Amino acid sequence: SHYQIAVIVGSLRRDSFNRKLADAIAKLAPPSFSFSQVQIGDLPLYNQDDDASPAASVTRLKTEIAAAQGLLFVTPEYNRSIPGVLKNAIDHASRPYGQSAWAGKPAGVLGVSVGAMGTALAQQHLRNILAYLDVPTLGQPEAFIQAKDGLFDEAGNIGVDSRDFLQGWMDRYVAWVTRHAA
Ligand code: FNR
Repeated sequence: SHYQIAVIVGSLRRDSFNRKLADAIAKLAPPSFSFSQVQIGDLPLYNQDDDASPAASVTRLKTEIAAAQGLLFVTPEYNRSIPGVLKNAIDHASRPYGQSAWAGKPAGVLGVSVGAMGTALAQQHLRNILAYLDVPTLGQPEAFIQAKDGLFDEAGNIGVDSRDFLQGWMDRYVAWVTRHAA
């Protein structure tokens, strides 16, 4: 069978390392998996008053999440947590109460940072949120990645130094999604 993965990138930056990582790691998956990044930059700021009449961008986000068999979060760390744009998207798709799009979708968490801690603290905050939202999240291997020369090759693939590690991560992620989607 086929697995559609909704990829949520926590950066809106044009040259985002995290978006590059999301693009590159998707190429390490088997052909039965396809990845598409959901757009979060055009979502309004979440306001509970709008639950009954959501913006088109909110409906689109929830439809894309609902249609996916798995989730992949690839996010930077902002001030030792997740970026507000990512939290905003998570909040939108979690509402109205009882109609969350997230529940039960198997997920993986990745992040790349210019700092040496490689988004470790942001990932822990994200895991806390996903636990509450009933999203079964791959625990191991963790992937705390530092942006440095050679992380990506000229074609935008994962560079040789990180290839084996991230292929191992993807293999575990594929097994996790396959198991939970069954
Ligand atoms: C950062 N950055 C950062 N890095 C980190 O390792 N820990 C942190 O807490 C923060 N905090 C932080 C706050 C804000 C507001 C910005 C703009 C940046 C640096 C961050 O790792 C760097 O900007 C990355 O390049 C962001 O990821 P993208 O946009 O390249 O995907």
